[in-house]
Amino acid sequence: MERGTFGAERFGVGSLKGRHFIEPLNFSVEEMEGLFTLAGKIEENPAIYRDACKGRVLATLFFEPSTRTRLSFESAMLRLGGGCLGFADPGSSSASKGESLADTIRTVASYADAIVMRNPKEGAALLASRYSVVPVINAGDGGHHHPTQTLTDLLTILRLRGDVKNLRVGFCGDLKFGRTVHSLVKALSRYEGVSLYFISPGELTVPKYLKTGVLAKNNIPYTEIGGSLDTVIGDIDVLYMTRVQRERFFNEEDYIRLKDSYILTPEKMALAKKDMIVLHPLPRVNEIDMEVDSDPRAAYFKQTKYGMYMRMALLLSILGGNNA
Ligand code: NCD
Repeated sequence: MERGTFGAERFGVGSLKGRHFIEPLNFSVEEMEGLFTLAGKIEENPAIYRDACKGRVLATLFFEPSTRTRLSFESAMLRLGGGCLGFADPGSSSASKGESLADTIRTVASYADAIVMRNPKEGAALLASRYSVVPVINAGDGGHHHPTQTLTDLLTILRLRGDVKNLRVGFCGDLKFGRTVHSLVKALSRYEGVSLYFISPGELTVPKYLKTGVLAKNNIPYTEIGGSLDTVIGDIDVLYMTRVQRERFFNEEDYIRLKDSYILTPEKMALAKKDMIVLHPLPRVNEIDMEVDSDPRAAYFKQTKYGMYMRMALLLSILGGNNA
């Protein structure tokens, strides 16, 4: 094979080699675009990438439950010819004996070439990056950020809508605790002409720091809606549904009271634009009626597939492929 055929440099993401990815703004818009291009190349011809990370090791440390994020990272690494180790349950790690995160990270960094970590504490990924000699990728830190989901979301929007610019994006559900929402809002604030709709119960609105610190600063218009989805669904190009984050509530009664605040049904979809797309980071609980799945605008399962190619592109760039 011609040297450099799958090198990240070719797609302008050579700069990502050795970098941590803790929150979406760690990468420039251009670097993200390079990753989308690389993900597309991988999707077109996965076979040529099968040895790209041969001999490299990825550690996946999941202190919180996960299906898609952990498995897509592990699948991505295996499809690049690399190996994976780690844990899916902190109960099986020395964290359960009281080991500090700093010590766990220092140890794992001597076994692996990169670390993907999910942790219930906000700021845990940043802390880990300070103790790690290898790149740390944040796979979710509490209700704070989830930047690789954002790459997945942006790639899905790009593929299905052609561009991210000038879109009206509606976020619906738990906007207070939903880390995928926080990361995507931050990333969208860098695209021209974007306007946002936040549809949530009053108790689950998007944090103030995002409204004042990110959206207002970047002149991104947004509207907060506490009422029915019906009043705005017809204006939206991308509807990002989210589940109410039960594990972040202080009491079960509040969760029970709020969990079914918004449910997307075929009746509501009938009010939406013909080319609107529905995204959801998944898992879905009750917020999208299963009947919506067969609507061609329901894009959440496509989104999961893009997530794997996206993570292949990310790992290849961060690790620097074998002939990069
Ligand atoms: C999300 C997460 O973990 O934040 N899931 C995911 O990674 N796709 C969303 C959620 O759990 O609701």
